[in-house]
Amino acid sequence: MRKIVMMCAAMLALSACSGSAPDGSASKPITVGFSQVGAESEWRSANTASVKAALAPPEFRLKFSDAQQKQENQIKALRSFIAQRVDVIAFSPVVESGWETVLREASAARIPVVLTDRAVKVSDDSLYATFIGSDFVEEGRKAGRWLVEDSKGKAGPIRIVELQGTVGSAPAIDRMKGFREIIDADKRFAVVRSQSGDFTRAKGKEVMEAFLKSQGRDIDVLFAHNDDMAIGAIQAIEEAGLKPGQDIRIVSIDGVRGAFEAMKAGKLNATIECNPLFGEQLAQLIRDVSAGRPVPKRVEVEEGVFTADQAAAELPKRKY
Ligand code: AHR
Repeated sequence: MRKIVMMCAAMLALSACSGSAPDGSASKPITVGFSQVGAESEWRSANTASVKAALAPPEFRLKFSDAQQKQENQIKALRSFIAQRVDVIAFSPVVESGWETVLREASAARIPVVLTDRAVKVSDDSLYATFIGSDFVEEGRKAGRWLVEDSKGKAGPIRIVELQGTVGSAPAIDRMKGFREIIDADKRFAVVRSQSGDFTRAKGKEVMEAFLKSQGRDIDVLFAHNDDMAIGAIQAIEEAGLKPGQDIRIVSIDGVRGAFEAMKAGKLNATIECNPLFGEQLAQLIRDVSAGRPVPKRVEVEEGVFTADQAAAELPKRKY
């Protein structure tokens, strides 16, 4: 009798630990080590929530680590995932370069790596299985195209200040590149100042204050690599006695609720969408790579462009 009770207890414990496959049959959960960039923006918080919701029990066992925007923390997290022998590593790299060694370690341990949101520069692309995220160059181009369109009939020079994202990060490098590609074709535009605001509101405000100090009123446009920096800069512009959205036209990237609120208030002119809600697509890629099924090398999420006149109608529909 005692033997039977013990056997039942063991079976119960086993079934509590195991997940169930999409067909309903019991299966071992997929252990995923996920290293997130940090919590620097509204976008990032929405991305974290989406990833956590999708990589939930019983199908997944998620080991989540916040790198606080430091590459060294992320490398440590990746090494700890390797030591724990997780099934799959997923991470959003803070910066583009410096990953070769740790990715080789993951590869030697036969742990597939999925890149999320930001890409890496490595000599051998087989060091990661797949990438899911946005086309940041295209986002920069979209911001440039919006500006060209909005500047129709305006005489030059059109003086632009730029708030870049984190130095060395894929979105900062690519958005700058895409934006330049478009505006460089029109001689009216000149980027008069460009500096990193590290994707945060506080830094965006601080750097915009410095721009206003050095340029005075000689700023026509602000291009911010994300909405949070634009929102910080809006505060700096108002504190300088100017009207954001009018005295200085502003275009930024992400499409977070805060940006729609600023557009509704007439303080931001346009936001280029960067979609953080790819948790479900990531979960499917993880299922596939852990089962050894083939996956595309790059999966891009769909995104739009929103202007101030659409803000009131769009705001209630925003999911992040
Ligand atoms: O990598 C995506 C970027 O990172 C988002 O545009 C920004 O808000 C975030 O911090």
